[in-house]
Amino acid sequence: MYLEKLQQWRYATNTFSDTEVSDEVLTQLLNATRLTASSYGLQPYRTLVIRDKAIQQQLVHCSYGQQKVADSSALVVFATKAARVEDIVTPYINELAQQRKLTDEQAQSTHGYLIERLQAMSAAELKEWATRQAYIGLGTFLLAAAELQVDSCPMEGIEKARYDDILSLPARGLNTAFVCPVGYRSEQDVTQLQKKVRLPLSQFRVAL
Ligand SMILES: Cc1cc2nc3c(=O)[nH]c(=O)nc-3n(C[C@H](O)[C@H](O)[C@H](O)COP(=O)(O)O)c2cc1C
Repeated sequence: MYLEKLQQWRYATNTFSDTEVSDEVLTQLLNATRLTASSYGLQPYRTLVIRDKAIQQQLVHCSYGQQKVADSSALVVFATKAARVEDIVTPYINELAQQRKLTDEQAQSTHGYLIERLQAMSAAELKEWATRQAYIGLGTFLLAAAELQVDSCPMEGIEKARYDDILSLPARGLNTAFVCPVGYRSEQDVTQLQKKVRLPLSQFRVAL
């Protein structure tokens, strides 16, 4: 029931108040997201936290005018890191080898296996796969935010290529997947009064 309460509390926030989310809370939020499961454990995505009103306002223009991008306390950008297979596998193998005390041979063998698996995908498939991993992270992010009583709004209504340019992401091997402004809901946000609408379980669970 605890999770259900969080899910009822959270909603896609449209208008944020001026109250800032503390750096400590943001760190907790990203830490929870970092612990999300991912395919092979590779976490082929990164997060960026933007707390610069000038940049946020610029990004409103690449978000179909959605003002919450600027009015939120922080804009969290989820970006895939899927330009080069090596850049996905190597950071993970380094952690794995160190934390599980692998021999060089074990590390190299796992590295080789993962490279081979990922190279079997085309560039487009790799990016699609990385994006799917990021969405799993988003699920955790939304629930963790609710647990921390932080409001949020997942957003894919953005022009990703323009985000990439403004944030200089491709130079770092990153590409925007989606964003999530966070902050505290404004009392004036009427969206919070709307009933949450979901398909009933009888439709959601399809009988065999
Ligand atoms: C992947 C994803 C992308 C979304 N993109 C937008 C968006 O660009 N702008 C927006 O206002 N809401 C966006 N939403 C919010 C949904 O419209 C909202 O979650 C849905 O209507 C259910 O409402 P609730 O989250 O308040 O329960 C998005 C939600 C998800 C999960």
